[in-house]
Amino acid sequence: MNTKSYQQLIEEARKKTGAPLDQALTLPGAFYTDPSIFELERKALFEAGWLFICRDDQVAAPGDYFAADTAAGPVLIARGEDREVRAFANICRHRGSILLEGQGSCRRIVCPYHAWSYRLDGRLSSAPEMAALPGFEPTDNGLIPLRMESWAGFLFITCNDNAPPLRNWLGDMPDRLASHKLEEMRHVWTVSLEASCNWKLLLENAIEAYHTGLVHRDTVGAQASRGIETRGHWACLQVLSDRSIATLPGDEPGFAPIAGLDEEARQGTYFTAILPNCQFAVAQDCLWWLNIRPLSVDRSVVEIGGCFPADSIARPDFEPLARPYFERWEKVGREDVAILEKQHRALMSPKHRPGRFGPREEQVRLFDLMILDALAAG
Ligand code: FES
Ligand SMILES: [Fe+2]
Repeated sequence: MNTKSYQQLIEEARKKTGAPLDQALTLPGAFYTDPSIFELERKALFEAGWLFICRDDQVAAPGDYFAADTAAGPVLIARGEDREVRAFANICRHRGSILLEGQGSCRRIVCPYHAWSYRLDGRLSSAPEMAALPGFEPTDNGLIPLRMESWAGFLFITCNDNAPPLRNWLGDMPDRLASHKLEEMRHVWTVSLEASCNWKLLLENAIEAYHTGLVHRDTVGAQASRGIETRGHWACLQVLSDRSIATLPGDEPGFAPIAGLDEEARQGTYFTAILPNCQFAVAQDCLWWLNIRPLSVDRSVVEIGGCFPADSIARPDFEPLARPYFERWEKVGREDVAILEKQHRALMSPKHRPGRFGPREEQVRLFDLMILDALAAG
């Protein structure tokens, strides 16, 4: 298909997905399976938008770093000796190796290929045998900085110098979640799952509770939910339950609700989807995230991260009380991945046709529409 045909495909999908919920159609299979559409998404969504990378308490001490492969390229976040947190492209300035993997702490960032080394503020510190080279200036060979902004301790980067400030991107989400005091939370747990499916399926699934009675019949079970109106680049479903649903129905939540939660927040868990690829699930006593990192059109990594208020973490019995939360997050995450892999296999068929949305899938429709709008603009 040529570029014009893709623009037509996007425009047609915008009309059909943009119709009122009771007439709207889901996205054509190509949006989940065509590598060329994935490349358009890479530019219009991942390189243009804000991507959540990690929390600032995951790089709490000078020398701490966090590296992640995103659909906008490899990213490195590091805290310098001056305690400043910075983001860089995780790419060596020599011949382009990845510099650091995963999480850890270091005094210098040393390239594993030819040992060029960088200070934590990105300046080139040493480059073996290069000093003799005419015109080689260490100051021209520092790490490439990335624009980074933080909200409530969550660090986001963008490759787009013209992106609006993060707070504008998030619209009214910070206000909606203000009473959870997320800035007082700390990250305590992560698990990463591989998923043989398109990244959008993982986000769509995360903002509808239509599937939970069947897919999660042995875990969270059927859930009541309501849509939350949003402003900005996010969608939101609230699953209604006056107790935290971050543990399974058989496991009493181990922690008290956050003091000062507003009336609406006391009534359930907010399942957000922040364009393009991140969910914060915000319950009365904790938060967990799904950070979806696409590897290709049909493979994704789902990072599930868990956060609790600092005073819960300070309890001497925190570990045993938090264990059922971790188990629930991983178990339910695996149940979702299993059904989405089935869905992806079927979406690859030439016989697939867009389907009708159900009455509880308005947030899926809205999120798909945000994606289509970004693709049309990009
Ligand atoms: S690629 Fe990094 S030192 Fe050569
Ligand atoms: Fe689910």
